[in-house]
Amino acid sequence: MVKKSSHPQTTKNIVLIGFMGAGKSVTGKYLAVKLKREIVSTDEGIERKEGRAITAIFQESGEAYFRKCEEDLIADLSRRENLVIDCGGGIVLNKKNVARLKKTGILIYLKTSPEVVYQRLKHQINRPLLNTPNPQQRIQQLLDERIPLYQQAAYSVDTDGKTAEQVGDEILQLLLKK
Ligand code: S3P
Repeated sequence: MVKKSSHPQTTKNIVLIGFMGAGKSVTGKYLAVKLKREIVSTDEGIERKEGRAITAIFQESGEAYFRKCEEDLIADLSRRENLVIDCGGGIVLNKKNVARLKKTGILIYLKTSPEVVYQRLKHQINRPLLNTPNPQQRIQQLLDERIPLYQQAAYSVDTDGKTAEQVGDEILQLLLKK
């Protein structure tokens, strides 16, 4: 009898999208270990190339510049395969990014409620977009704009009340069924 592989056969990139605080980085690292793949974080890639933190890029060069850095990096990454890609929450704002990522990857939306986003991020200072007097309102507003964009993913997985391992295992199951 042929033993059924417990590994998804695809060489396509596994692309994690979703709002800040969805757990894309931790889940991405978990998946990369399980799948023996390289993990690439778009935020870390940009910080390395720029030699400065995301907050500094926003402050010194503005959001539009940061979005251009994302677009350039996605153009490179989407030419590769066998990666796990942990995308910054705003990657989906640019249609070109979504189209490029879809060409060589499987998009997975990590879904999180606004309440949980707030609870997970309220003590963090490294999210320039939430550095406002009313972060809860801002989270809701950004989510309203972005949910339809995140829903372009092939799969979505709820993350509220789950550990990164649980979310990662659900993703592995989805990929095996493919
Ligand atoms: C952003 C999300 C951040 C980072 C930047 C902008 C966004 O990444 O790219 O602060 O627009 O949602 P995470 O989703 O990894 O926090």
